[in-house]
Amino acid sequence: MSLFIVLEGIDGAGTTTQTALLRDRLQADGQPAIQTFEPTNGPIGVMIRQMLSKRIVLPSHTQDAPSEPVTRETLAALFAADRLDHCAALIEPSINAKNHIISDRYLHSSLAYQGDIEEGDTVDYSWIMQLNSRAKVPDVTFFLKIDLETSLARISQRGAARDIYETREKLERLITRYDEVMEMLSTRGDHIVTIDATQSIDAIHTSIWQHISHLQK
Ligand code: TYD
Repeated sequence: MSLFIVLEGIDGAGTTTQTALLRDRLQADGQPAIQTFEPTNGPIGVMIRQMLSKRIVLPSHTQDAPSEPVTRETLAALFAADRLDHCAALIEPSINAKNHIISDRYLHSSLAYQGDIEEGDTVDYSWIMQLNSRAKVPDVTFFLKIDLETSLARISQRGAARDIYETREKLERLITRYDEVMEMLSTRGDHIVTIDATQSIDAIHTSIWQHISHLQK
């Protein structure tokens, strides 16, 4: 049976590394597998990345007011549109063609990042769930869990430009948010496996592989 597998976690959790390792392992085992990610590299995903890096901003209404990034609502709607496009263009066709498909981030990211309510914000989980109600439910999600200090250390090691979510305060809130989201989705019946992602790359991979092998028995 082909599996739709998702890897999730805050920035620095290692989802990209583990997605690639899992794909390679499945392929080495003779099981066709495709690696993918969100935001995607489709038209909506590309626009989202430009918004996250503030290359697209709202025009300022007065001359001296700073330009603002797009609103949280706009981002939530775009992420949902990107996801539906992802399902139609790649996830569903891959499963139909008997490939495993492994996504680096999915719905859980929308709930954790866009559901991060600050004063005056109105985006809530139920609205995001509604926007995403037609997105395919993963067969299994691996939640790579790390603490704030590990996240900050890994982000600064990476050295690349930070996006709008990579600050201490935001990461702190995201950690709480992710716990809530995983709890909420488990309650609706999603299969979620939490992994201590402060471990070594090999140890995390082994743990993911054990779960996948077990699922396939
Ligand atoms: P990420 O894969 O971490 O990109 P990079 O390789 O540049 O680190 O994803 C980019 C950002 O998108 C990340 O900060 C999380 C955010 N994101 C959301 O806010 N909502 C979503 O629904 C998704 C999928 C990602």
